[in-house]
Amino acid sequence: MSDFAEKLSVLSDQERIASSSKFRWIGYTQSDEILKKMEFLKNYPTSLRMPNILLVSDSNNGKTRILDRFEKLNKSYINDINGELHIPTLYVEAPVEPDERRLYNLILEALFAPINASERIEIRQSRVIHLLKKTNVKLLMIDEIHHVLAGTMNKQRTFLNIIKSLSNNTKISIVCAGTKAAFNAINTDTQLINRFEPYILDNWVYNNEYSKLLKSFEQILPLKKKSDLTESNISKQILFKSEGLIGEISKILELSSILAINSGHEKIDLEILNGIRFTVPSKRNREDSILR
Ligand SMILES: Nc1ncnc2c1ncn2[C@@H]1O[C@H](COP(=O)(O)OP(=O)(O)OP(=O)(O)O)[C@@H](O)[C@H]1O
Ligand SMILES: [Mg+2]
Repeated sequence: MSDFAEKLSVLSDQERIASSSKFRWIGYTQSDEILKKMEFLKNYPTSLRMPNILLVSDSNNGKTRILDRFEKLNKSYINDINGELHIPTLYVEAPVEPDERRLYNLILEALFAPINASERIEIRQSRVIHLLKKTNVKLLMIDEIHHVLAGTMNKQRTFLNIIKSLSNNTKISIVCAGTKAAFNAINTDTQLINRFEPYILDNWVYNNEYSKLLKSFEQILPLKKKSDLTESNISKQILFKSEGLIGEISKILELSSILAINSGHEKIDLEILNGIRFTVPSKRNREDSILR
């Protein structure tokens, strides 16, 4: 019996239902590759041009979880000898508009530094640079970067150039993450594409990698009977319903586990998969508009 199965055997149905909804990190080839690259960037020697990356995928396909995983693997600490604070990775969400002032505020907030509304932009910028260095930040992560790319092409590039110069001035590598809109913004500018190496998290397709992912999910299902998720009809049905997005795969397995527990079926098969209340992502908006 695996450790997980052993833990499960003492849980009540209610606890197993709660366990179905609990997030558990699952590593896969692309996530390992990106985490390795982030580690490389974190340890990159200070240079005039720090390398940055742009992590791109469809929405709900694992970007934020990778950033979060890296943050958890690189916890802040205080150096015992000199008492210095080390925050190896700093996570912020991009401001909803391409506004330099707001970006600095978000970084200051993440560092628990005070924000003075009337502070001049140059002072604010130098305070951000100073604090990032003082707290020994080695990798800055800016998520939801597509938000700031809603403006004109010109505005987008201006903002990306602000991020680029922040990396130049602090000598800190930056990981930006966002949807394909972000990729299109840098893709038209050779200067930017050289400074933000794109990493694209592909949608899941029917192959060996996908089977491996399902096997990993299978191992953490809180069910009493074995579900054969990699059986071709089952795995194809999960892929079809999820449209190849890891967030949807995980949602389908969560709903299926709950139904399997409540119905006493105790395993996920086609009957359970067809019984859950789930709409294929691309059909959701259409259904919403019918309801309205
Ligand atoms: N490595 C993983 N292990 C297990 N589940 C995962 C993993 N990555 C993603 N998921 C599941 O997919 C969901 C969506 O992932 P995430 O929030 O990272 O997507 P995203 O690409 O950041 O989406 P968005 O562009 O909308 O912000 C997670 O809440 C989680 O349920
Ligand atoms: Mg996200």
